Amino acid sequence: MQIAAPEHFTCRHHHHHRKVSPEGPQLGASGVGDPYFPQMGNGGYDAVHYDLDLKVDPLNNYLQASATMQAKALQNLDTFNLDFRNFDIAHVTVNGAPAKFLREDGELSITPEQPLIAGQDFSVKVDYAGTPKPYESEHAPITIGWNPTKDGSYVLSEPDGSSTWYPCNDHPRDKATYKFYVTVPTGYQAVCNGKLQERREQGDQTTFVWDAKDPMASYLSTVNVGKFVEHTVEGPNGVPIHNFFPKSVDKRAQFDFGRVPEMMDWFGKRYGDYPFEVYGNLVLNASVGGAALETQTRPVFERGMVTGTRALEFIYAHELGHQWWGNSTSVQNWKDIWLSEGFANYTHMMWRHEHDFGVANLDKAMYRMYRDLPSSSDAPVADPGENQMFSENVYNRGAVTLHLLRKDLGDESFFKTLRAYSEKFRGQNVTTDDLVNTVNEVSGKDMTAFFERWIKQPELPPYPEALKLADDPSA
Ligand code: TRP
Ligand code: ZN
Repeated sequence: MQIAAPEHFTCRHHHHHRKVSPEGPQLGASGVGDPYFPQMGNGGYDAVHYDLDLKVDPLNNYLQASATMQAKALQNLDTFNLDFRNFDIAHVTVNGAPAKFLREDGELSITPEQPLIAGQDFSVKVDYAGTPKPYESEHAPITIGWNPTKDGSYVLSEPDGSSTWYPCNDHPRDKATYKFYVTVPTGYQAVCNGKLQERREQGDQTTFVWDAKDPMASYLSTVNVGKFVEHTVEGPNGVPIHNFFPKSVDKRAQFDFGRVPEMMDWFGKRYGDYPFEVYGNLVLNASVGGAALETQTRPVFERGMVTGTRALEFIYAHELGHQWWGNSTSVQNWKDIWLSEGFANYTHMMWRHEHDFGVANLDKAMYRMYRDLPSSSDAPVADPGENQMFSENVYNRGAVTLHLLRKDLGDESFFKTLRAYSEKFRGQNVTTDDLVNTVNEVSGKDMTAFFERWIKQPELPPYPEALKLADDPSA
């Protein structure tokens, strides 16, 4: 981040009415500084809140939108950027005044009429419209962004799809609160992150107002339009769980998701209380490549993840686990993705094996997982490369590492450490070193070399002999 000059310098000689800084025009950087994604996010300001006003026409797959970002300038800015692809932009205003804008390769540069001063709060509003374009990101396992379904649409954006449907500072390092105002034809629903605050019917249109008041990374924002059956159940500490299922799988989904309150309670006892004020699962009336995403407070599952037998319950546990790991504590850089996926993977293994069958069953399963790992990877788990972020190695070697950490520290110290880590970084961002330092501090044991071998080196270390003998089913 640039150090802010204290104030603008007015160039009297040229009788400009625009203030000009002595160093020339002040530009906000076009990237936030992520080594994998040089253009993701932007510098020079801090996004605080987004208001997304979306008029969705599901019959014609058309979106008319107005997105407002409230932010704070971190330096003097003559021009700053948002990430934004697609759509026709009608207007841009900054603090209510028309602003000049230019778009090139997903970067929208905005030059306000009045330059912004370091420390100043400002708002920028972008009006745009068009047909949403699904995004084939080389960094994602499936097509992301805004996608149509037979009876509506869904949004899944990890890691870089959010800027394909609204202008934003598209990087998890700049979390913000959100409010969604989604207008759909009456009879359709719009389901977003957070809490449904209001539902206004006006003629043949209904507006759903969703309030997501906990800071959220842009890739975790979602808007889903369709026809769903809503079920409300109560989680631990009175956390409301609002599930949305398509009619065609409603009965089976109610059974499949029936243990989610118990999951939340069980994880809460180990990780610390569930970190948000609401929760709820949404099942799409579509197949989307076998994927589910942990969108904040509202994970989204494709229809095929409902079986009626709880066969895929571990995936519901995985996405719930992400609410602590990845969502509340977000990656500082995408290379740290194992802090999200390795933890979510270990969470679902705990549920599937330990919760249901006891810890010895988990021990076996983790040793099996270890034996299926490649003996060496191209890159370490803690820096897998931008096209390997969602690779098995990140998920599974990450999970194995956590299990072995647990075996080394003992349950009491391990979970105490995780609680301290989730509490300390709640709503913030984390690096691998933040985890290592927290483990060292809280456990009182220096685990630096352990993490070095398991996470920071490509070669797979040997499994501890003692854990192997007892638990290898084929030994
Ligand atoms: N985070 C997802 C998981 O829970 C995997 C994922 C990454 C994903 N990008 C996605 C899923 C985009 C759907 C869409 O493991
Ligand atoms: Zn995951």
